[in-house]
Amino acid sequence: MKKALITGITGQDGAYLAQFLLKKDYKVFGLIRRVASRDMSNLEYLDVADKISFIDGDLTDEASLISAVKRIYPDEIYNLAAQSFVGISWDQPLTTFDINATGTLRILNAVKTFCPTAKFYQASTSEMFGNSNDKGVQSEATYFHPRSPYAIAKLAGYWLAVNYRESYNMFCANGILFNHESPIRGKEFVTRKITDGVAKIKFGLAEDIKLGNLDSFRDWGFAGDYVEAMWLMLQQNNPDDFIISTGENHSIKDLLNTAFNRVGIKDWSRYVKLDPQYKRPSELFTLKGQNGKAKEKLGWKPKVGFEQLINMMVDVDLERIKLVAKKLKNKE
Ligand code: NAP
Ligand code: GDD
Repeated sequence: MKKALITGITGQDGAYLAQFLLKKDYKVFGLIRRVASRDMSNLEYLDVADKISFIDGDLTDEASLISAVKRIYPDEIYNLAAQSFVGISWDQPLTTFDINATGTLRILNAVKTFCPTAKFYQASTSEMFGNSNDKGVQSEATYFHPRSPYAIAKLAGYWLAVNYRESYNMFCANGILFNHESPIRGKEFVTRKITDGVAKIKFGLAEDIKLGNLDSFRDWGFAGDYVEAMWLMLQQNNPDDFIISTGENHSIKDLLNTAFNRVGIKDWSRYVKLDPQYKRPSELFTLKGQNGKAKEKLGWKPKVGFEQLINMMVDVDLERIKLVAKKLKNKE
């Protein structure tokens, strides 16, 4: 039985990846950090919380990473843990760097020293491109020009993974993933903020959704599809870096149209308020990934399209908010 160590197990991708690997008969270990109030809701939603072996540890604490790696001696390591919210990275740049850049270095060093033959997946991101593109799309050859502390820290993580591969012959693969979402996406991200807001408006629990820039375009896919690509990268004979995307993009306005349409509201404009606090000091306008390399070499392709994804998220949020509304009514 293969052993996988996932950092970031409580997050969106950690939960989907754990579910995927368990179905493939892996023994799954999840690194979990000490917090005052532990939230296992993503793992519970996917019904995997009781099937994972949890290991205490934190990407900011090298000793904990060494101890985790020595204890498990994993075949595969998926480094998904991060301060993953771009917006807050301007307010907490040092924490973001410590986790996303130095944290990656800490775990790479632990792997190099104590289990150098393990295959290592690094959660890299389309944010590293910033606004650069080649004729409107980003490929593995597009130059990087990160535009947030988050993206700069992630770019350091990307190059560290490449450097450990080149310097120590380690199996390190970067997945350059474009935005991917699901019903367990954090509510601070724009997709879930909108699907949760639409459900609340539908049940009379909110009057509007406050947003920043409505003009940016993102290449949104489904997280459940993307974790398969992570695994496929580690099943190759040689380590390499891959873009994972749908190859299509949509604006926030398209997203609003689709989400409100799902609950029968044709004109969303009266429910959306612009709020400058959600605008970013520097923005990424258009992301659209060229996923040809992943299709050809990994045999991977996305299964869930944009409309299906947003409808799925709205439907799950409607179910959740319906329960909340019912509870509130019973209290009256
Ligand atoms: P997420 O839902 O925000 O999950 C982040 C995870 O990292 C959580 O489990 C969190 O644990 C953990 N974490 C944060 N700081 C940590 C620390 N110091 N030590 C140990 N664990 C820590 O993120 P996601 O959407 O699943 O994304 C997974 C990874 O892919 C991230 O690295 C993200 O930057 C990257 N990525 C995501 C996307 C996307 O669209 N989702 C696209 C490209 C790349 P707590 O529960 O304790 O907070
Ligand atoms: N979060 C948020 N909240 N974003 C808003 C809002 C708002 O109220 N209003 C407009 N937006 C715009 C943002 O300015 C951005 O242009 C776009 O919506 C998407 O924002 P997010 O959903 O926060 O995602 P992101 O693209 O910044 O980052 C996500 O994808 C990256 C991959 O491209 C995160 O998952 C990152 O961790 C990931 O690396």
